[in-house]
Amino acid sequence: MTIDGVAASGKSSVASGVARALGIPYVSSGLLYRAATQLGREAGVRLGDAAALLTHLRARPLRLEALPEGNRVWQGERDLTDELHSSQVDAGVSVVAALPEVRAWVDDQLRALPAPFVAEGRDMGTNVFPQARAKFYLTASARVRAERRSQERPEDVDAVEAALIERDRRDAGQSAPAPDAHVIDTGPLTLEGVIETILQVLPT
Ligand code: C5P
Repeated sequence: MTIDGVAASGKSSVASGVARALGIPYVSSGLLYRAATQLGREAGVRLGDAAALLTHLRARPLRLEALPEGNRVWQGERDLTDELHSSQVDAGVSVVAALPEVRAWVDDQLRALPAPFVAEGRDMGTNVFPQARAKFYLTASARVRAERRSQERPEDVDAVEAALIERDRRDAGQSAPAPDAHVIDTGPLTLEGVIETILQVLPT
């Protein structure tokens, strides 16, 4: 099954909760885009330069560890995960994610993972797993999302909201509900409420 949605709509927490209820892992595709961005930044590669970025990424392969309670990204023995949710990565990741070569690099890794799992991202239900048996798309107003996300970032809520709106704008080309997705406005719901809503809709 797939859970897509706009930035900071709660996808990872919801996907983790649903995955645990089902006893399967979840897969955070955004972490791979974030890792590509962070490694490109570190190497001094221009983030719009797909060829340079791909050469760099292929030289040192990444491994996505998909566990029900959380995902981690490894490069050899190095665990990159805790570096991937900075405001700097937030600001650059949409540029990297707009590159078709990087999208193909991410998609290949996702499709190679052993099923079943809950796939979470922007285009899981539309492009990567169009055959998924159930699809969800999470939304919430920019203000609600900024209020949630500002607890995880040093910036104030107005700055976080502005950054989210800008990221939504840049991600618009790669983020849309599949025609057969259940769209859920998470604004009025608690995390548990969203998880419960999804579990009730799932085919048995
Ligand atoms: O989900 P998360 O906010 O961690 O995703 C980070 C970024 O990765 C998004 O802003 C988007 O640019 C990109 N992304 C994407 N397609 C996906 C998942 C993430 O383009 N399936």
